[in-house]
Amino acid sequence: MKDLIATSIKYQQGALYILDQHQLPHQEQWLLCDSGDTMIAMIKKLQIRGAPLIGIGASLLLAHLAEQGLDAAELKIQAERLRAARPTAVNLMNCIDRMLATLTSTGPTGLSRCAEQLFEEDVDLCNRMAAYGAALIPDGANILTHCNTGSLATAGVGTAIGVIGAVKQQGKQLHVWVDETRPLLQGGRLTAWEMNRLGVPHTLICDNMAATLMAQGKVDVVLVGSDRIAANGDFANKVGTYSLAVIAHYHQVPFYVVAPYTTVDPECPDGKAIPIEQRSPAEVQGVSGSFGEVNWAPDNTQVYNPAFDVTPAELVTGWILDTGVYSPEQIAAGALTSL
Ligand code: MRU
Repeated sequence: MKDLIATSIKYQQGALYILDQHQLPHQEQWLLCDSGDTMIAMIKKLQIRGAPLIGIGASLLLAHLAEQGLDAAELKIQAERLRAARPTAVNLMNCIDRMLATLTSTGPTGLSRCAEQLFEEDVDLCNRMAAYGAALIPDGANILTHCNTGSLATAGVGTAIGVIGAVKQQGKQLHVWVDETRPLLQGGRLTAWEMNRLGVPHTLICDNMAATLMAQGKVDVVLVGSDRIAANGDFANKVGTYSLAVIAHYHQVPFYVVAPYTTVDPECPDGKAIPIEQRSPAEVQGVSGSFGEVNWAPDNTQVYNPAFDVTPAELVTGWILDTGVYSPEQIAAGALTSL
């Protein structure tokens, strides 16, 4: 497979490396990933994360294993195990399906080209979303975003953060409110890191501050990513997205979801059919990262920790996809089933 370089994944001289997102922003450590077990552990620990990127990472690993001589039967077993590593992000399933279809039609030798294409396609999809989204954002906008949707979460410039980067490139003034994104702090750790790299003026807030900012007229638009969009436009994203959509609706702040077609799941009729990953109580009882580990809740405290929530289509102003910006009317008319 040829060398492929992105912000948080690289295939270089026959080896796959992952930038350990658990250690960001304080340590930039690249880890070798050379087995299905390693990739699954990295996905579960969110060392590699973001719906598009976990699909690309799993595909590059499968192609690498094929180059190492794994036969078709062994590759199928690895593919099915990788598919189950995170249940909500449909991009992972889509990538695995494309790799398995290639395995069936060409055998293991075709997997390298397929993985390269998935990587390169994701870069292209990000650029398209960024261009469509940036055209919607006026000069001087205060944008609020949740979780991390940038170059750490994709092979390219990202989804919602890709739009933010394109707004900056167009020379428009902007300021970004960065939701810290409890429990795993993807906003405070990762989006703040990306905003610094992009040179975008930004302010970090706790998730529960967004309503007050909206009431004060300090948010012009909300941009978020997605892990799965159902056929009716309902979508799953990092927990806390739904409450943002509710308060944006109340304050009449436009609310956009930015995602490639690989995030759309036409088999899911609506949000109720989207599987939601439940995660460890430890993530809510405390926090861990490059700064160490702390546990502040009593050990026996009961915890509820869904990693994602579902925002109903009725709260969405527009769906910014790689093929254009879709209105609620277009989505209701079935636009997502004919992409
Ligand atoms: O659990 P994570 O950090 O993988 O969750 C990521 C998100 O919720 C993103 O918004 C989503 O994957 C889209 S990223 C381009």
